[in-house]
Amino acid sequence: MARKIVVTSGKGGVGKTTVAVHLAARLAQKGQRVVLCDADFGLNNVDVTAGVEELVTYDVVDVIEGRCRAKQALIRHPKYPNLYVLTSSHSAPERYVSPQAVKVVLDTLSPQFDFIFIDCPAGIDEGFHRAVAAAEEAIVVTSPSVSALRDANRALTLLKSYRLQTLSLVVNMVRGDLLVSGECLTPIQIADLLKLPLLGILPEDYRLSENELSSLHPSFRMMANNLLTGKQKLYDVERKYSGLFGNVRRALKRSL
Ligand SMILES: Nc1ncnc2c1ncn2[C@@H]1O[C@H](COP(=O)(O)OP(=O)(O)O)[C@@H](O)[C@H]1O
Ligand SMILES: [Mg+2]
Repeated sequence: MARKIVVTSGKGGVGKTTVAVHLAARLAQKGQRVVLCDADFGLNNVDVTAGVEELVTYDVVDVIEGRCRAKQALIRHPKYPNLYVLTSSHSAPERYVSPQAVKVVLDTLSPQFDFIFIDCPAGIDEGFHRAVAAAEEAIVVTSPSVSALRDANRALTLLKSYRLQTLSLVVNMVRGDLLVSGECLTPIQIADLLKLPLLGILPEDYRLSENELSSLHPSFRMMANNLLTGKQKLYDVERKYSGLFGNVRRALKRSL
């Protein structure tokens, strides 16, 4: 049976889709069989971020409405053959999709996979419920900004009512230069505030803003290992900005 993990946040634009896609790809690269399900029926951009939008034939609505079987709707990733993408509605974006229907599709796939990641939409309304109801574990993604933290906290309050087995935190878009100069909350402080164990830390990095799955950031290696082993090895975002050369990098970053 697959571990079904929803990637959620409350706020939009903090990196849910990025984390879901890259983490799923890293686990697939390590030999795990992974499904990545786009449960964001509004923006549905998992296919673009994963670089498979040209390969979409069927989507999850086609499965729910009986036009194909769940396995037929899976897009096998050309670069990561253990990664299968299940896109959200392209054919019928306005169609109502019930939480139960999504859960049934994922439960059908579960016995043949090790992980199913569910990419959650922003907000805490119906789309949130649909994504979370199908999951057994949750990864909460936040950036260090106050508004993202507030939304993550709201999402967390709701998540607790679902009785998920595991909740963990990814702090994204962390600026090592600001951490070194003590100008922002550290990921550990954020984890303490939200009372969640840290699964990973991701720096703000232009390569992650390119919206394509070309190279995997080393932080995802650690995150994937943490997910598999329960350990807590975290990427050091400050290292680049420490020491003599680090001071120069900080000064340069500040002048940008
Ligand atoms: N660590 C990062 N550094 C730089 N850009 C990032 C990072 N994480 C995400 N992004 C970019 O931020 C934007 C929003 O990310 P996305 O994953 O779509 O957020 P969400 O799914 O939470 O709405 C995307 O353009 C993405 O490429
Ligand atoms: Mg998204």
